[in-house]
Amino acid sequence: MKNNNFIDFNDLQIEDLEKLCALADDIRANREQYSRALAGRVMATLFYEPSTRTQFSFQTAMLRLGGSVIGFSDPSNSSVAKGESLKDTTKIVSGYADVIVMRSPVEGTPYAASLYSEIPVINAGDGGHLHPSQTLTDMYTILKHKKRWTDLSIGICGDLLNGRTVHSLLKAFRRFSGNTFYLISTKELALPEYVYSDLISSNNTVHVVGSIEEVIDKLDILYMTRIQKERFASAEEYERQSGIFVLDTKKMEKAKKDLCILHPLPKVDEIEDAVDDDERALYFEQAKCGMYIRMALILTLLKNDLIKNPVYENIDAKKCKNPRCVTNHEKYLPKKAKSQNDSEWVCAYCECTNEK
Ligand code: NCD
Repeated sequence: MKNNNFIDFNDLQIEDLEKLCALADDIRANREQYSRALAGRVMATLFYEPSTRTQFSFQTAMLRLGGSVIGFSDPSNSSVAKGESLKDTTKIVSGYADVIVMRSPVEGTPYAASLYSEIPVINAGDGGHLHPSQTLTDMYTILKHKKRWTDLSIGICGDLLNGRTVHSLLKAFRRFSGNTFYLISTKELALPEYVYSDLISSNNTVHVVGSIEEVIDKLDILYMTRIQKERFASAEEYERQSGIFVLDTKKMEKAKKDLCILHPLPKVDEIEDAVDDDERALYFEQAKCGMYIRMALILTLLKNDLIKNPVYENIDAKKCKNPRCVTNHEKYLPKKAKSQNDSEWVCAYCECTNEK
């Protein structure tokens, strides 16, 4: 595996994150200066799952740096439809392009691809697992508006079970301290155990609450999320969970004057339209920040060796228990485990707890 992939946000050191944010600011202020920075370089965007913002922001980021883009957003138009393995697709594309940006509904796919790629692989979202470039976007937006990643009151609302942006964001915040998190969801859509236990073992305070109303006056940041319809087993189950938490102008009356409302987007019905006009609604600005921070990421990955990815040894283990794990779809993949919190072992691809 080449040592310069962006698979998990926490592969970044905090100083690397600070450098990326500073570079994004510089790019934003001096766009012309960077407009040929990656001339002649090619990005491949391999999207096995729908996307608007992430795909377009990576593509625009590369184009604005003077590079070009190839790829697919509908795998039925590629050799994947003929049954080509992830390993073969990755090896071929890594011979053509300089960086791969990959999204998949199957958890651990970008990490699996990185094992066979000669060029950097960026995780653009893997199933319900992680979405590190959205986390970069979120952290950059928070820094711009709050000037810090510590001592904040942060409400996280919606589908905490299936929302990969939430999992990535909370994993990132685990490395900072003094924050108070209010987790706002139904019991059915509460955080997965591995994310929750990781968060409560950090130097932050965590409260599980049942409504936006009871905490909105305390919050510095409210991170709203969509109920992830595509990850439900049936339409009925989705219907039971949708429309429960809605941010509206009435609730906003109780919020602080400098509350930041964030949302990875797309939003469906969890934010009333009128809230868009409130200057505390930062989600469109957040999406714009996403393009600049992705420019900084690509530029850094292609110009030097920023990220030192951990290497996980192959292990002799039974199959991963998670049916959505890439190892249960691409059978040739070696089993790999990593240790979590120095005690338990989790699958290195999807982070599901498995017996070693
Ligand atoms: C998110 C995603 O795909 O996980 N969107 C995004 O990348 N900006 C959130 C979502 O789909 O709800």
